[in-house]
Amino acid sequence: MTHPTDSPSGELEWQDGQPFSRRFGDVFFSRDSGIAETQHVFLAGNALRERWASLAAGAQFVVAETGFGTGLSFLCAWALWDEIAPRDARLHFVSVEAYPLARDELVRALALWPQLAPYRDALAVRCEAFAPGWHRLAFASGRVMLTLLVGDIAAVLPRLEAGIDAWFLDGFAPARNPDMWSPAVLDQVARLSRPGATFATYTAASEVRRHLEAAGFAVRKAGGFGRKREMLAGTLQESHAPPWQAPWFARPAAHTGERQAIVVGSGPAGAATAASLAARGWGVEVLERRGDAGPAAAAMHQGVLYAHPSPHPTALNELVLAGLQHTALLLRAGLVPDPRDYGLCGVLQLAYDAHETQRQAGVAALALPRALLHAVDRVEAAAIAGLEVPQAGLFFPAAGWVHPPALCAALLDHPGIHVRRAHDAIEIVRTGTQWTVRNGRLIVAEAPVVVIAGGADSAGFPQTRHLPLRAIRGQITLLPATAASAALRTVLCGEGYVAPARGGVHSLGATHKFRDRQTDVRASEHVENLERLSHLAPALHAALGVGRLEATALEGLAGLRCSSPDYLPVVGPVVDAAAFMRTYARLSRDATLVLREPSPWLDGLYMNTAHGSRGLITAPLSGELLAAYLDGEPSPVPVGVAEALHPSRFLLRALIRRRTPDANLA
Ligand SMILES: Cc1cc2nc3c(=O)[nH]c(=O)nc-3n(C[C@H](O)[C@H](O)[C@H](O)COP(=O)(O)OP(=O)(O)OC[C@H]3O[C@@H](n4cnc5c(N)ncnc54)[C@H](O)[C@@H]3O)c2cc1C
Ligand SMILES: C[S@@+](CC[C@H](N)C(=O)[O-])C[C@H]1O[C@@H](n2cnc3c(N)ncnc32)[C@H](O)[C@@H]1O
Repeated sequence: MTHPTDSPSGELEWQDGQPFSRRFGDVFFSRDSGIAETQHVFLAGNALRERWASLAAGAQFVVAETGFGTGLSFLCAWALWDEIAPRDARLHFVSVEAYPLARDELVRALALWPQLAPYRDALAVRCEAFAPGWHRLAFASGRVMLTLLVGDIAAVLPRLEAGIDAWFLDGFAPARNPDMWSPAVLDQVARLSRPGATFATYTAASEVRRHLEAAGFAVRKAGGFGRKREMLAGTLQESHAPPWQAPWFARPAAHTGERQAIVVGSGPAGAATAASLAARGWGVEVLERRGDAGPAAAAMHQGVLYAHPSPHPTALNELVLAGLQHTALLLRAGLVPDPRDYGLCGVLQLAYDAHETQRQAGVAALALPRALLHAVDRVEAAAIAGLEVPQAGLFFPAAGWVHPPALCAALLDHPGIHVRRAHDAIEIVRTGTQWTVRNGRLIVAEAPVVVIAGGADSAGFPQTRHLPLRAIRGQITLLPATAASAALRTVLCGEGYVAPARGGVHSLGATHKFRDRQTDVRASEHVENLERLSHLAPALHAALGVGRLEATALEGLAGLRCSSPDYLPVVGPVVDAAAFMRTYARLSRDATLVLREPSPWLDGLYMNTAHGSRGLITAPLSGELLAAYLDGEPSPVPVGVAEALHPSRFLLRALIRRRTPDANLA
C-alpha cells in the first residue's frame, strides 16, 4: 500500500499543523489546545491530581485509554504523575489502538507541546513501528509502564486481564466511530474496572451515557472543554460482568505483604524475572548454582533474536512476535551498555526448503509492518547479507543478536537485586508465610515468594516434578573471522544460524541432541555445524576458509535447553499437583465442565522456564508476565497466551485425557 508522503501510516492529514484523521474525518484533539483539553477532560474528569497526591508510598495505579492516537493523553498523564505521585509509586497506562501512527507522525504531533519534549523523546525511542499485537514499554526505570494493545477494540478488550482505576474514553465522536462506544465495548470497560474505578470522556452523547449506565457506572454531566458545553464522567457502581475464566487459569490473588522474592537461576529467565520485580520495588535474591560463567545455555557467545513465526494466529506465534519486539526494544533503548555485546543488524531467515518457502509466503501475506518483517527475493537478500545467499527469505530488520551473559548482567544490574553465585537451591520448603530454600541443612534464603527459573533443572523440586520438562543439548561452534567474512552484515538463519563476528569470532549454531545431558564440546558436533553452514551460506563457508579448518582444533560451547512438549515456555503460578487432580477430577468424565472450585495454588511459588531455543526473545516478556501475576498488574500478553504458558496446563490435559501426569522427561 502506498501512502501520501505526508502520512507514512496513511491515517493522517495535517490541517493548520494539527493532525486530522482521514479514516474518521475527525480531529485527534481540540484545535484550541489539545493539552488543555486532555488535562481538563481526562485528568481532571477522573480527579487524578487529587487521587494521585494522596496515594500511599509504593502504590500502583492503572489508567486505561480507548484510542492511543498521538500519545498525547499518555504523556499528559505521565507528566502529572511525575509532578505529584509519590516517587516510589507506579503508573501503569494501558491503551488500545487499531490504526497506529508512524513514529514521525507522533513526534510531529507531540512537538506542538515543547513542555512535553522529554516525555516525547523517551516515547520516540521506543516506537519504531507498532505491529498488531501487544507491546510493553517501560519508562523512567519502570516507574511508568505503557501496555499498548494494537488491534481493534472489540477484539482486544475481551483478551485483556487487568484491574483499571481510571478510564480515558477517547475514540473520536460516537457518531463518526460508534464501534468505540458499543455496549459490548463498554461492558468490557466495566468488567476490567476495579471497584470504585472512574471514567471521563469529552462526549455527552446520550447513547454513550445509557450504555455506560447499563454497564454499571453512575454517570454525571460535567462542564466540557472550550466550546463543548458538557462532557461525561462517572464511577463504577457494580460491574454486571459474569466470571469469565475457569479458576485453573484465573490468577491467584496478587501478592500482599513483604515484597521479597527468591529467584532460582540467573539465566535469561531468572535475570528477567528479577529485573521485572526489582523495577516494581521488590527486593530479589537470585540464587545461582554456578560460581562463574561456566557451560550453561545462557553463557553462549552470541544468541540470536530469532522468532520463526508461522502464518497462524497461535499462542506461540503471538508470543514469539511480541517477545522479539520486546527484547529488541530493550536493546534499542540501551539496556546493554557495551555496543560490542549486541548487534541490531537484522535477521535474515532463508527459505531453505519447500516447506519453509510456503511458511514464509504465509507469514509475508500477513502484511505486518515492514519494520517488523518483510519478504525479500534472493538479490535483495544478498544485498542485505553483504554476500551471496542461496535463497530468498524473510528479513526482520529490528532483530539481531546479543551476548547472553551481557544481557543477563544488564538485567541483574539493579540495586534491588542481590545475586548469590555458587548457591545451589536443593530444596524449597514452605514454613508459615515464608519459603525456605535449603542446601542440605543450610538455609540459603527465605522469602514469601520463590520463582523457579532453573532452565533444564526446573523440574527437580518435589513441587515441580509433575512438569513434563525435558533437556535438549546444544553446541555452537566458534569460528575466527576473516577479512572476507567481515562482509556479513546480518544474522543468517536457516536450519542453523551464523552471526556477524563479535570480538573477531563468529557463532555458528546449533546442534540439537535429545536424551543427552552432557555439556562437553564435541568435534562431531562442530562437523554438523560446519555442514549446516555449507548449505546455509556457501559464500560465507568459503569466506571463512572452513575447508581448511580441523574440527578437532575448533572451539565451541555446549549447554542444555529446557523444553516443554508443546514447545511453549512454562510461566506462572504453581499448584499442588495432587490436590489439583483431586479438585478437578470430574473433568476426566466431562471435559466441558467449568468447575468453580479455586485452584490449589502453592502460595507464592512461581515458575519461568522451558524457553527452548528462543529464550532471548521469550524470557524477558515472561518476566513481565510474572511480575503482572505477583503485583496484580495488567497482563503484558493476551489471556489466551497466559493460559497457553500456564504451568497447570499439563495437569489439566492429563485429567482430560484420563492419564496420570507425564513424569519429568529430563
Ligand atoms: C547451543 C545453544 C544455542 C542457543 N542459541 C540460542 C539463540 O541463538 N537464541 C535464543 O534465543 N536462545 C538460544 N538458546 C537457548 C537459550 O540459551 C535458552 O532459551 C535460555 O538460556 C533459557 O534461559 P533460562 O534462564 O530459562 O535457562 P538457563 O539459561 O539454562 O539458566 C538456568 C540457570 O539456572 C541455574 N540453576 C538451575 N538449577 C538451579 C538450582 N537448583 N539452584 C541454583 N541455580 C540453578 C543454572 O545454573 C543456570 O545458570 C541456545 C541454547 C543452546 C544450548
Ligand atoms: C481521538 S483519537 C485518540 C487521541 C489520543 N488519545 C491522543 O492522545 O492523541 C481516537 C483513536 O482511536 C483509534 N480507534 C478508532 N477506532 C478504533 C477501534 N475500533 N479500535 C481501536 N482503536 C480505534 C483511532 O485510530 C484514533 O487513534
